[in-house]
Amino acid sequence: MQQEHRIETLKRMLTLIEEKTSIMGETGTIEVSHYTSKDRLADELNTLFLEYPVIVAHSSQLSEPGSFITLDIGHIPIIVNRDRLGILRVFLNSCRHRGAKLTEKPCGKAKAFKCPYHAWGYMDDGSLKFVPSNNAFPSLELEQHGLKELSVTEVAGFIWVVPKLKAPISEEPENKEVYIRHYLAGIDKDLEHFGLKNHVRRVSDIQKPKCNWKLIIDAFSEGYHLKSLHKDSVESFFLEHGSVFQKMGKHSRSVGARKDILKAKSLPESEWDFRSWTTPFYTLFPNTVLVFHPDWVSRITVFPDGTDQCVVFHDMLVPEDANLKASYWDKTFKLINQQVFAAEDIAICENIQSAARSGADTHWVTGGLETPVLWFHQECNAALES
Ligand code: FES
Ligand SMILES: [Fe+2]
Repeated sequence: MQQEHRIETLKRMLTLIEEKTSIMGETGTIEVSHYTSKDRLADELNTLFLEYPVIVAHSSQLSEPGSFITLDIGHIPIIVNRDRLGILRVFLNSCRHRGAKLTEKPCGKAKAFKCPYHAWGYMDDGSLKFVPSNNAFPSLELEQHGLKELSVTEVAGFIWVVPKLKAPISEEPENKEVYIRHYLAGIDKDLEHFGLKNHVRRVSDIQKPKCNWKLIIDAFSEGYHLKSLHKDSVESFFLEHGSVFQKMGKHSRSVGARKDILKAKSLPESEWDFRSWTTPFYTLFPNTVLVFHPDWVSRITVFPDGTDQCVVFHDMLVPEDANLKASYWDKTFKLINQQVFAAEDIAICENIQSAARSGADTHWVTGGLETPVLWFHQECNAALES
């Protein structure tokens, strides 16, 4: 967000605080079966997790040539690799012989990948270089059996992968960047203004809650629950009123008012501090939420693992020149990750999943303070119908 936009947003929030209210949007309903249906999950895996750009890492995780990470995008296992020449690549983590995963390490360094099953060997550019007893494959053409490569690009500090593009785009780096920027509908500029390219991932956590993946996105897309669910943790930093949100393409941007925003009344606009006085958060369709704490950023990305289980990646991104001592960051991450996210947000999502399974309700309702949740579900529905 540019400075003028930040000032404008702060003014809007201060007016809402005076009026003892927040922005109210459209109300609606969510189908409960969307959290439990196997057919629905199959559609989501074949659409949302194949045709849309998803964040797989912060760029700082793969800054070194020869480094790699692995993860599953829904049911697709991938290796994200920066090869020795510095080129970023994404491969299916599946041997072209009979499908074994080449590595199960979550991250590491490699110049080549050797399959654990029969030892076929691939270079870090994905080419097949070695087949033991190759006379057993008299007609095998090595160059036709390199690892399957997926489309990947870096924009605004993150690495984005589209497993299967609906509309093929040229693999030229500029074209891929234009595609992601168009998809982000202006959020890329916000992320650049927040300096996300100049952050590093300091620490991370992976959790496997027993709930549908969309419940996690729901929980991180609204602040209506702050005064109740988070009353014993972070509620005391925030005001009840003054929050705003807006739709941006398929995504949304919300901004919560921290109590410090009241300092604005006694300071000239030139000293207004948007970053310290608010908590902006972005729901990036389909499966990431970014939360901007005053001095660091949470990147939360969720992948389904069945209808009632998911995998949640939570990264702590800090400015690369931050010099606060290690114990400060560890303590802060622990408070947010363990106490707020795990013990409060994720716990309520698991609690809701059991109610969803009961079939007691066919629909749940979303109020005017939760419109970004409704937008997220509307975008999921639209993507599955298109
Ligand atoms: S499955 Fe990889 S070498 Fe056989
Ligand atoms: Fe929460």
